[in-house]
Amino acid sequence: MTTLAIIGGTGLTRMEGLTVTRREMVKTPYGAPSCPIVFGELGGRQVAFLARHGSTHRIPPHRINYCANIWALHSVGIKRIIAVGAVGGICESCSVGTIVIPDQIIDYTYARENTFFDGGADPVEHIDFSYPYNENLRSALIDGAAAVDELNVVSQGVYGVMQGPRLETAAEIRRLAADGCTIVGMTGMPEAALAAELGLGYACCAVVVNPAAGRDGQKVDTTALPASIKSGMSNAVKVLDRTLQSSVLEES
Ligand code: HPA
Repeated sequence: MTTLAIIGGTGLTRMEGLTVTRREMVKTPYGAPSCPIVFGELGGRQVAFLARHGSTHRIPPHRINYCANIWALHSVGIKRIIAVGAVGGICESCSVGTIVIPDQIIDYTYARENTFFDGGADPVEHIDFSYPYNENLRSALIDGAAAVDELNVVSQGVYGVMQGPRLETAAEIRRLAADGCTIVGMTGMPEAALAAELGLGYACCAVVVNPAAGRDGQKVDTTALPASIKSGMSNAVKVLDRTLQSSVLEES
């Protein structure tokens, strides 16, 4: 049975190297997930794959049905999720092309359906979310990334999650930096919290595709994004392949 899933973000709507065995469109009480779940084998391991923005990348970050996506994965037996996402780099070590395995989150999103615990339960349910990412999955990703040649890897970081779909102002990025954020993206929440609510292990493989707004004294060069997303995601696939082969994954 497949218990491990990969959620692909921008630039990763298809999982290169996945030997596909079947696809399933899951119905959920929260509506339709972004697309069918694809089941197959990668790195010698059974995995499920879900494209967060849909199979043709049409769903913007604030419109993703995060509840349906996480519910769908849980309902087919998934216990652990590795989520891939494109991000902007805020701190100096997070230059373009770097793979960051964050260990913390600050959530700046709003107006998103962000919980399965929406009332009705007695008592009201609260999850502990002090350490939002699963340490075993993080270790496996760090191990997997270290096995890829010539890759700049940062093994911790604070992911500031913004609402989007616009990119940030330079002042917003200065505020995020002052808050301690080292990377910025738009999809890390509520995905991580929803996974935690259902008791799923969750970790993030963040791919830096641009310096965050104003960081190099410049605007974000959106014309350069497609090329950096392409090369960054091709590295992310290598990291995933090595991660799935990592014995660290067996340890939980
Ligand atoms: N900001 C927010 N989300 C992003 C960025 C960014 O600079 N780059 C890629 N996703």
